[in-house]
Amino acid sequence: MALDRKPAPNDLSAFWMPFTANRQFKKAPRMFVAAEGMYYTTADGRQVLDGTAGLWCCNAGHKRPKIVQAIQQQAAELDYAPAFQMGHPKAFELASALRDIAPGGMDHVFFTNSGSESVETALKIALACHRARGEASRTRLVGRERGYHGVNFGGISVGGIVNNRRVFGNLLSGVDHLPHTHLPQNAFSKGQPEHGAHLADALDGLVALHGAETIAAVIVEPMAGSTGVLMPPKGYLERLREICTRHGIFLIFDEVITGFGRLGASFAAERFGVRPDMITAAKGLTNGIIPMGAVLVSAEIHDAFMNGPDHLIEFFHGYTYSGCPIASAAGLATLETYREEGLFQRAADLEAYWQEGLHSLRECPHVIDIRNMGLIGAIELQPMSGEPAKRGFSAFLNAYEAGLLVRSTGDTIALSPPLIVEKAQIDQIFETLRKVLHGLD
Ligand SMILES: Cc1ncc(COP(=O)(O)O)c(C=O)c1O
Repeated sequence: MALDRKPAPNDLSAFWMPFTANRQFKKAPRMFVAAEGMYYTTADGRQVLDGTAGLWCCNAGHKRPKIVQAIQQQAAELDYAPAFQMGHPKAFELASALRDIAPGGMDHVFFTNSGSESVETALKIALACHRARGEASRTRLVGRERGYHGVNFGGISVGGIVNNRRVFGNLLSGVDHLPHTHLPQNAFSKGQPEHGAHLADALDGLVALHGAETIAAVIVEPMAGSTGVLMPPKGYLERLREICTRHGIFLIFDEVITGFGRLGASFAAERFGVRPDMITAAKGLTNGIIPMGAVLVSAEIHDAFMNGPDHLIEFFHGYTYSGCPIASAAGLATLETYREEGLFQRAADLEAYWQEGLHSLRECPHVIDIRNMGLIGAIELQPMSGEPAKRGFSAFLNAYEAGLLVRSTGDTIALSPPLIVEKAQIDQIFETLRKVLHGLD
């Protein structure tokens, strides 16, 4: 048996797979056993082109030598150091490196292990910061319809995807949602859509309803990914920023997907020229190779905690693995790989080619909308009558059989290839999808 072909396990029953149709999967498993560059290898030895950077996370592609070596070396040198009341150099180095690539003003970094934990952390920082500044009445949190902020209780409370919320009880109290930004008149927009900046004004409505002095923070994805890729309408984020500033409300950008070059800049905040008060990150921070998340925080927020006697803990929050050595080493090597290869700029340079290829699918069967920005694309399909998400799932399965990994969320096909993608591979992605779309029921 070739080295890159591993036997598939005989028993699939014990592992309850996350966000997966378990029974369907276990009848016809899709197993990856190796990955390199732009390709996965399946258990039966096929090459599958990675059209999704794993799960929006392997922005530098797979099996990158610098990152692999950094992890190996770190494991052999310092496997673990306590995260509380002790430190190790690489966590500090990584925090500084993140501050250096982030938009100005994001001066401090709190490490977590995932996007979900970054969101919980940011929401808690917002509440605790207002209290530290003598504004304890600011306890309400505002999210947005169709938002995805991970799967923990804070995240699903401010999130707006109904299936992630409806069976989990009452969630957090004191949460409101802004309207989503998906407007039919924006269909087939290239880049940011024209219509919808006014939707941010709903925040003024919440202020009128509750009083600004009760609202702690607004959290939005600058580009909503998991709901099916919705770009912010022109002027929308700017207006949200202006209303938050006017009322002393923190603005949190959830950049778990949009961070690390996905939109052709370090963060979406940079791409859109809008500075939030906090940024949540994860995924591309370590190129997906090991779990790690981060919350980037403005100096104003951080400094509000730095009061009281020196020996007291300022913020009662943290994780056993916050900034752990191996994740920090992976993060540093990842940022270095992005820098050495100019990958954020590469995404920007490829955007026009990507956009043209994606929008060439407009006339394919079932296509009702196409959306794109940076190296992200979405193709929304007409749902089958009475069977939502079935056509999208069939597209995912058929693309996989044809050697291409895409994501389906509902009836939208989402694309986010590693930023090392070549033009010929972009062509391959869209030619494969063209055939898949023509073959769908
Ligand atoms: C915007 C956003 N926030 C949070 C998360 C949750 O991240 P994780 O799955 O690492 O907890 C995701 C995951 O896709 C995301 O897209």
